[in-house]
Amino acid sequence: GCLIPRARVAAVPAERRAGMAAPPIDALLAQMNLDEKIGQMTQVDRTALIDGSEIHELFIGSVLSGGDSLAIPNTPSSWADGYDRYQTQALSTRLGIPLIYGIDAVHGVGGVKGAVVFPHNVGLGCTRSPELVEAVARVTARELAGTGMDWAFAPCVAVSRDERWGRAYESFGETPELAESLGAAAVRGLQNAGTSAGARDGTAVLACAKHFVADGATTGGRDRGDARLSEEELRRLHLPGYAAAIKAGVATVMVSYSSWNGQPMHGNRRLITDVLKGELAFDGFVVSDWAAIDRLPGPYLGDIETGINAGIDMVMVPIRFREFITGLKQLVTAGRVPMTRIDDAVRRILRQKARFGLWQRPFTDQTLTGEIGSPAHRAVAREAARRSAVLLKNDGAVLPLRKDARVHLCGSKADDIGIQCGGWTVGWHGRRGDVTDGTTIRQGIAATIGEAKLDYSTDAAGADRADAIVVVVGEEPYAEESGDRAKLALSSEDETLIAAAGRSGKPVVVLLITGRPLILGPVLDAASALMVVWLPGTEGGGVADLLFGVARPTGKLSYSWPANMSNIPLNVGDPRYAPLFEYGFGLTYA
Ligand code: BGC
Ligand code: BGC
Repeated sequence: GCLIPRARVAAVPAERRAGMAAPPIDALLAQMNLDEKIGQMTQVDRTALIDGSEIHELFIGSVLSGGDSLAIPNTPSSWADGYDRYQTQALSTRLGIPLIYGIDAVHGVGGVKGAVVFPHNVGLGCTRSPELVEAVARVTARELAGTGMDWAFAPCVAVSRDERWGRAYESFGETPELAESLGAAAVRGLQNAGTSAGARDGTAVLACAKHFVADGATTGGRDRGDARLSEEELRRLHLPGYAAAIKAGVATVMVSYSSWNGQPMHGNRRLITDVLKGELAFDGFVVSDWAAIDRLPGPYLGDIETGINAGIDMVMVPIRFREFITGLKQLVTAGRVPMTRIDDAVRRILRQKARFGLWQRPFTDQTLTGEIGSPAHRAVAREAARRSAVLLKNDGAVLPLRKDARVHLCGSKADDIGIQCGGWTVGWHGRRGDVTDGTTIRQGIAATIGEAKLDYSTDAAGADRADAIVVVVGEEPYAEESGDRAKLALSSEDETLIAAAGRSGKPVVVLLITGRPLILGPVLDAASALMVVWLPGTEGGGVADLLFGVARPTGKLSYSWPANMSNIPLNVGDPRYAPLFEYGFGLTYA
């Protein structure tokens, strides 16, 4: 649980509380002792803090909420209160260096109940629209700022080369071009780079390009696996997303759990220090992934040494922070981690804190808290849902359906906000059911044609009385390795449902909710029309807009669609490229 007991807080000088200009970084660094420096390099999960006084005691520089480390109660204002209390602890230290708080705002601020949830990146990739992605990221940043939090662990610029990977949906698609153009757009939106320098309005948050590098290239699409590929291929496919994010000014980069040709990325000094910071001139800071240095070979002390010397600036510890701090101090004292490395790391972190106005505005702007989940924000998400969907089949122009038609909607997934949002929604893996506020696909259709014209069943019973049947099928929520699959197929329940709908003799429209292409098999023939809506988020009205021709589908596949499992891995440009639907495919209405 994360209910924070009230901790004693030392006094915070009034000027710090009110907001002040950031001090010159080098002068500040010169005042810092080793404990204060190591504190800046330490990121602690919210659940590892007893009452937050540890921030004051150990000069902790950053807190995060991991996928399940949510505020209790999960309301925007309780997030903001928690943030302000942690920040007070940081400001009450000798030097009063403000804290930065990060969270996986990967499709909106998914962890916060009531926040708007956008389509996952796989869908945004199908929009091919940097403008839309920037607008989505802008809203995400505003909602994040409304919770006080300053840092989104997004965008994921993975180029996913294997659909079996449980994080395929976090990727904009299978080509480096998508990671470049849409990743950079997300960075601009989150960091509010659209405004002139210095004119940040308190809604700019730090972005984080992740996971460096080639996380989407692992053998068999195994999460946290090994990417076996040449340096030429790594540079051609997996580096451009970072180069573009850096050009857009990205503040942070997160290292990947995965390995490259057998070497764990968290120990790869050449790629982190020489290539990322040297060649690509990245001047923000590098953060490690969740407890990821712990997975380096050998005892923990050596892991810290390897990771920091490889170029990691801030360690997402995230639980055993006392051991990390003691260990790093020991390493510095023994000369195993040079002081120059520590100073470089701290300077990088402080520079970003100054750049994002943490000294000027240390506390939550409560007017933004009230905007979380607003109709204006939901309208952007609805448009994103609309433009993400890809129409794969439309025999006899079944779609769009007439608004005066009698429609039978079936499948429990048609009326489930948790399913349409997917992973990283009010919990790491997400889950079925009523997890947050929003409009289900069923509610979206009902609002478009009226309740009276809509029949709904979970099993297609009575479907023959309708003019058309809409069947909603697809994947259940998952995240990371829990989503790795050897086989990508519809469940037998989904297949049974489609078969039952087909027996009615009426045209069957299949809507597919999924984080990646699934093997369609006989389903493609059974359907008159088939539209993949990916993981559309909280605004099911966007899907209804397409069904009834309020808007025309414009999405283009961000992944090549395989005909069968032996097709996988399948990527555009392969020597023998034989997809069921090619990369970029997408129909529209006449
Ligand atoms: C994931 C990261 C995420 C971090 C913090 C890790 O398991 O790989 O993408 O940012 O957790 O939640
Ligand atoms: C956290 C996630 C994290 C994962 C890594 C979970 O407990 O909530 O954020 O990515 O652990 O193992």
